[in-house]
Amino acid sequence: MLALRVEREKAEDLRLELSRLNLLDSRRKFLVGDEFVEIPVLGMEGVDLAKWGAVSVEQEEPVERAEVYDPHKEIVDNLQIPDDLVGLLPKKWEMLGDVLILKLNEELREYDTEVAKVYAEVLGAATVLEDVGGVSEVIRKPDVRLLLGERTVATHRENGVLYKLDAKEIMFSSGNIDERIRMAKVCDDGDIVVDMFAGIGYFSLPMAVHSRPEKVYAVEINPVAFGFLEGNTKLNGVENVVEPILGDCLEMAPEGVATRVVMGYLSGQNYLPKAMRVIGERGTIHYHENCPNELLPDRPVGNVKDAARKEDRKIEVLNQRRIKSYAPGVSHVVLDVHVS
Ligand SMILES: C[S@@+](CC[C@H](N)C(=O)[O-])C[C@H]1O[C@@H](n2cnc3c(N)ncnc32)[C@H](O)[C@@H]1O
Repeated sequence: MLALRVEREKAEDLRLELSRLNLLDSRRKFLVGDEFVEIPVLGMEGVDLAKWGAVSVEQEEPVERAEVYDPHKEIVDNLQIPDDLVGLLPKKWEMLGDVLILKLNEELREYDTEVAKVYAEVLGAATVLEDVGGVSEVIRKPDVRLLLGERTVATHRENGVLYKLDAKEIMFSSGNIDERIRMAKVCDDGDIVVDMFAGIGYFSLPMAVHSRPEKVYAVEINPVAFGFLEGNTKLNGVENVVEPILGDCLEMAPEGVATRVVMGYLSGQNYLPKAMRVIGERGTIHYHENCPNELLPDRPVGNVKDAARKEDRKIEVLNQRRIKSYAPGVSHVVLDVHVS
């Protein structure tokens, strides 16, 4: 078992060089002494030992790294499907509480029951849904197919917040996790928030649970999502702060009251003038948009400027964040905009 022994100060640079040459042996641990480090290697071709002042040693008692548990490997080991389909088994999935959502390649459909059973066993899911693709335009209902189990209502825990939802009816985008966490911290004490597209409480709940807004008006147009929103405010003990409102935010969002407005809807530019009216004397809008990368940041900034002009308000774009890639060449971004 070959290793290179080098002075501690030079170890990090040598590690980088060995990594570049693909010579690190990742199965063994580095041995760190008072003065020297032993770096496990697969070979020494192309390494100038003199330059590093390093010597090669045979490790008599190498320390193996603990193997990282890989559920996908266990799934592959437990599934009986033709060898040429194994490479098509999904390596990523969504888990909402104990409801698992899988995207399946068409060629795996013939084996979908078996595939669902083994994924459920290994990942501890009670129900498995296939994500057939896409979500509907306005209410964002996912297109899913039941593969295993019956119950599709799950309680998902994230960042100390509980989200109860029916995975057959309601989307939950795991790619937005950083934004949900950011929103948990963004509120100033005493903020009056209007969440214009509240869903089941994606942003309203972390704000109310982790910050100290005075009030969060959470407007949702889809009665199914609204039912869960109401339940989730109680589930998280924030029913005194979050006030769910059923209906179209264009009509139902209160005007002239907010210090903060959340617009977590990807086709929201027509709602920007309303958001400008929802803000009181001054405040901040968190405006989401799906935008081709080559039109960033001009298009979303332009949309905000147009709305401000229309409503005779002053704006300053404080920040623009890319939340995730939505499709090839298209990004989901959020702009923080100060309005006065
Ligand atoms: C895409 S979801 C929000 C997703 C969320 N940003 C996340 O992190 O997963 C947007 C929500 O806005 C709701 N919605 C759409 N148009 C609306 C409107 N005019 N007024 C109120 N809610 C609306 C939809 O029903 C949906 O629940």
